[in-house]
Amino acid sequence: MTLSARTEARRVAALAELDPRRQSKLGQFFTPARAAELIASMVRLPKSGSLRVLDPGAGVGSLTAALVERVAREAPDVLLDIVAVELDPSVVPYLQRTLDDCAGPTVRCRLVEGDFITGSSGVIDVTGELRDPFDLVVMNPPYGKLGAKSDYRRALQATGVECPNLYAAFLVLGYLNLVEGGQVVAIIPRSFANGTYFGDFRRHLLTATALDRIHTFESRSTVFADTGVLQENVIISAIRGGAFETVLVTSSVGHEDEAVERVVPTSEVVKPSDPHRFVRITLEDAALPDRTGCVLADLGLTASTGRVVDFRARQWLVDAEVDGAVPLVYPGNVRLGRTEWPRAIRKPQGFLPETEAADRLLVPPGSYVVIKRFSSKEERRRVVAAVWESESPVAFENHLNVIHRSGQGLDTHLAVGLCMWLNSTVIDRYFRTFSGHTQVNATDLRTLPLPSAQDLRRLGSSWPGGSTEQAEIDRMVEAVVGSAVRAA
Ligand SMILES: C[S@@+](CC[C@H](N)C(=O)[O-])C[C@H]1O[C@@H](n2cnc3c(N)ncnc32)[C@H](O)[C@@H]1O
Repeated sequence: MTLSARTEARRVAALAELDPRRQSKLGQFFTPARAAELIASMVRLPKSGSLRVLDPGAGVGSLTAALVERVAREAPDVLLDIVAVELDPSVVPYLQRTLDDCAGPTVRCRLVEGDFITGSSGVIDVTGELRDPFDLVVMNPPYGKLGAKSDYRRALQATGVECPNLYAAFLVLGYLNLVEGGQVVAIIPRSFANGTYFGDFRRHLLTATALDRIHTFESRSTVFADTGVLQENVIISAIRGGAFETVLVTSSVGHEDEAVERVVPTSEVVKPSDPHRFVRITLEDAALPDRTGCVLADLGLTASTGRVVDFRARQWLVDAEVDGAVPLVYPGNVRLGRTEWPRAIRKPQGFLPETEAADRLLVPPGSYVVIKRFSSKEERRRVVAAVWESESPVAFENHLNVIHRSGQGLDTHLAVGLCMWLNSTVIDRYFRTFSGHTQVNATDLRTLPLPSAQDLRRLGSSWPGGSTEQAEIDRMVEAVVGSAVRAA
């Protein structure tokens, strides 16, 4: 049996013994051997000399074992000095066995049983091990939200970065423990790539390090299949203090499948003009037409979530026919390009503004663009927009985003043009470059590139009405806005 096969057997045995509550609390989702191999393959190996390696949250040591095996094969003269940190005493014996298995004349392994976050941020000094910087950090960190008042969050304040999630905390402490030019390779959820929560973390990551490779998985379900994790994961490689003109983006369906690759200019991955520092990960050519230099704010518009949270407004939810009721619009009323109301969607279709508080949840008559905040994984599109137009006030439910002008409607041609643009294939592809999840946030909408108001109105006035097929939308968008051009 090989080292990785023995480690894999320990992984399966350890998983079977885990207490489910503890497993979820400590984010114990161990990396299968083939995925560990893929992570180890992204490490930049020197030909000789030594490599001081950190494996924080090491579990049974799958990443360390994969690295040791690769070094033995490809760079047998390199001396490995590995520190593995693990918090859970019930996992430690497995890890110790893997480290013993890895150790040899050119491989030195040390196990630190303790808390990586408090240990490495200096609040509790577990050992002196973490004080000396590393050449390489490999990690599959635990995931979990970190509350604003949590001890970890407080411990991290010393680093000056706000980390909303454990994995971000591990990553920050990982690369802060690197020598200049050192590398971190980490498998993490894709959620860091966009969204406001991770903004501070992204800025820190992209300042302290430079991304040189990103691997994505097309399937959410394969990597941690035997631990039941359904999460879009990516593997990132970043170099402390580095600077690269390009990033190698690779992608495979699962961790056992062949990868395809594309060399992407760094300026496409993180746009220099983007204040949010979204990390756009795509293999597709998601170039946009030239005439798309605006965002919503340039058009005097903004996006907000619908005001009606239905379980908090139960007393005002009624049937559409009830006297005095105004339309209540849910995502179920949104079809590609048009709203169907009332519709039999097992949701109340009317809203009775009986009190001032209820009245404040309405928006005035007019034309609005509504966008679903969540799409199902099976849906072909992520961005699904429709125009709502009415002569009465309307209530938008909270699972919708609404585009408006200071709380008022838009002129019809602008609303229709904007809706067609948001429903184009060009924009859906573009959206996927920075968002891995099925959620479309109001912030995402505020940053999407748009044609000018004039072009959008031309687009809106070219719409013949009625239901529109995707191909027809794309044809009309191309006729007005032009076709996509690749960045120079
Ligand atoms: C997602 S698992 C990954 C394990 C291993 N790196 C792998 O790839 O299989 C995360 C590991 O981190 C450990 N862990 C969680 N919180 C920790 C902490 N604060 N300090 C050290 N280890 C921690 C868990 O017990 C678990 O073994």
